[in-house]
Amino acid sequence: MFDILVTGGAGYIGSHTCVALLEAGFSVVIADDLSNSKFEAVSRIRSITGNKVTFYPYDITDEIELERIFTRHAIRCVVHFAGKKAVGESVEMPLEYYRTNLLSTISLSRVMKRHGVKNIVFSSSATVYGNSKKVPYSEKSPTGNCTNPYAWTKWMNEQILSDVVRSDPDWSVVILRYFNPVGAHTSGKIGEDPLGLPNNLFPYLTQVAVGKLEQLPIYGSDYPTKDGTGIRDYIHVMDLAEGHVSAVRKCLRDFGVQIYNLGSGKGHSVFEVIHAFEEATARKIPYVICPRREGDVSASYASTKKAAEELHWKSRRTLADMCTDAWRWQESNPQGYC
Ligand code: NAD
Ligand code: WQD
Repeated sequence: MFDILVTGGAGYIGSHTCVALLEAGFSVVIADDLSNSKFEAVSRIRSITGNKVTFYPYDITDEIELERIFTRHAIRCVVHFAGKKAVGESVEMPLEYYRTNLLSTISLSRVMKRHGVKNIVFSSSATVYGNSKKVPYSEKSPTGNCTNPYAWTKWMNEQILSDVVRSDPDWSVVILRYFNPVGAHTSGKIGEDPLGLPNNLFPYLTQVAVGKLEQLPIYGSDYPTKDGTGIRDYIHVMDLAEGHVSAVRKCLRDFGVQIYNLGSGKGHSVFEVIHAFEEATARKIPYVICPRREGDVSASYASTKKAAEELHWKSRRTLADMCTDAWRWQESNPQGYC
């Protein structure tokens, strides 16, 4: 029996992916320093799946800590989520972002190499497509031209891992470019629990609905879109989690670098999201139109053809499912994990 190491497995996407991996029969070890998550998420992964999950509260930029994990467990593949992810914060503290997001991948890959583990699935982001205007984005769309340090760290990590494969073709690297992950597990036990004021649309929306925040700011209503608000490709986090199960299988089977978009392939405007949320939850969402947010593009959505053909994976859940599940999580955990 072998283990999958999930770095950042206590976080939002990591916790849902651990559930999907455990339900698919994989054995999971988590390394997460809890810098942006709570141990309670790990307890809830255990309670949803009834499985044993080994947890290490380690900083994965530290090779000595990583060594302990690779010595104790027969790791066959790493799913690497750990890192910092707030765009605005990355502009204010670029060095912290470059340090954590690059050093984590470098330390991890060095320890993996020492232990002969050459399979890794990496969390990248649609943000690597930068301000490129032509949608839908396919994996061949130009990348770079990034607009903030966070995005550059994703772009640089893709480069680092591609160079590792170039140096040793026995490596298997699967790079996943997520679009906009939202929603929660249907149990309502795990979900997105941002620290402080949410940066993203869905957690802001659910916190307005639960009465923690007064009204939703809509950043721009003068985009060249059907109703003037920004268009994004929202993907249910459990669809995304299941995409990782397919990616792990692919990673274990193949060699080289494979890159896939994980999105729904559909674009929804901010107004469409608000209306879908109001319908799914029977709550009215007060909002205020604000100026555009710096760095935002008018529309971003994925071409999902490559993932469908090669990973045999497609998102299944609807925008209504995303709203219902996000709301169930928020309503049953108004203060998050506490
Ligand atoms: P998250 O912050 O909820 O999860 C990241 C986890 O990594 C956290 O639990 C945090 O405690 C942990 N972590 C951070 N630094 C660490 C370190 N040095 N050592 C060990 N653990 C560390 O974020 P998420 O939304 O679940 O995102 C997961 C990954 O997916 C990130 O790499 C993020 O950049 C990427 N991504 C996220 C989105 C999104 O919209 N959520 C979109 C595209 C890509
Ligand atoms: C969605 C839409 C906003 C909040 C970000 C990162 C990206 C990726 C995912 C990690 C936009 C509008 C938002 C609000 C609003 N993360 N909005 N009011 O900007 O597409 O992507 O998260 O890789 O890198 O940039 O997501 O949820 O912030 O915004 O009107 O309070 O909602 O302008 O049109 P975004 P988002």
